[in-house]
Amino acid sequence: MDPKDIVRQGYDALSLSYRGDRSENDGHNQKLWTSQVLDILPSAPAKVLDIGCGCGVPASRELASAGYSVTGVDISKVQVDRARNLVPEGTFIQADIASESILEVIPITEKFSAVIAFYVLIHIPVGEQSALIHRMSDWVEEGGYCAMVVGITPWTGEAVGWLGKDVKMWWSQASIEEYRKWVKDAGFEILREEHAKDPVSDGSESEGHQFLLLRKVSKLQQKDTSDPNTNTYNGASYLMQ
Ligand SMILES: C[S@@+](CC[C@H](N)C(=O)[O-])C[C@H]1O[C@@H](n2cnc3c(N)ncnc32)[C@H](O)[C@@H]1O
Repeated sequence: MDPKDIVRQGYDALSLSYRGDRSENDGHNQKLWTSQVLDILPSAPAKVLDIGCGCGVPASRELASAGYSVTGVDISKVQVDRARNLVPEGTFIQADIASESILEVIPITEKFSAVIAFYVLIHIPVGEQSALIHRMSDWVEEGGYCAMVVGITPWTGEAVGWLGKDVKMWWSQASIEEYRKWVKDAGFEILREEHAKDPVSDGSESEGHQFLLLRKVSKLQQKDTSDPNTNTYNGASYLMQ
């Protein structure tokens, strides 16, 4: 089965197991990280994109409550339906964020003050992640922010039994060194890193994940081979400031 179908069907089945309607007892890290983004964002109203928004709780809901205009994207219909109910002020789209067709809905010319992506890159094939980070950078206005949670050591695989349910799930991640390089190549500077411990169902701790808070500092330029100060990535070039 296509890994993205495993993830989509997995979250359709696991949506409520992953996160209840109220986030008082879960989504603790996401709430803290969202408050860090809120601390540095320009005053509302401003636009924020929540990639892999899940059921919209807590991140989209916190941002919408603070007066920001939130667009959430998630591949799972169940997650998106719940987000529409739980965060009625937001706009929620069911789509694969790494697909070309998402650009018909959120064109690359549309700019956001911040893009957040908590625990979603780890469900996208690692070969697509660098290009997605570049796309996220394109969506962020210059001087804007990005917050993401990524893996630490390279691993791709699937499992049945996550969250105690008889449901298949699939993950894919690169090394933290690669993520640091990819975000810098995409025009971000790293403002802050934080390690997140993840409890697993047997009570032990997994390796966890890394939270990155980023600011966009580079401007996407048309490729100009006459300018020695440009760095080239996949035919596009980024002017280092
Ligand atoms: C671990 S959950 C995280 C949800 C929320 N961001 C949070 O931290 O609570 C990952 C979410 O990413 C979504 N997702 C996975 N792959 C995706 C893709 N290619 N495009 C959009 N959403 C995706 C899943 O459906 C799921 O809701």
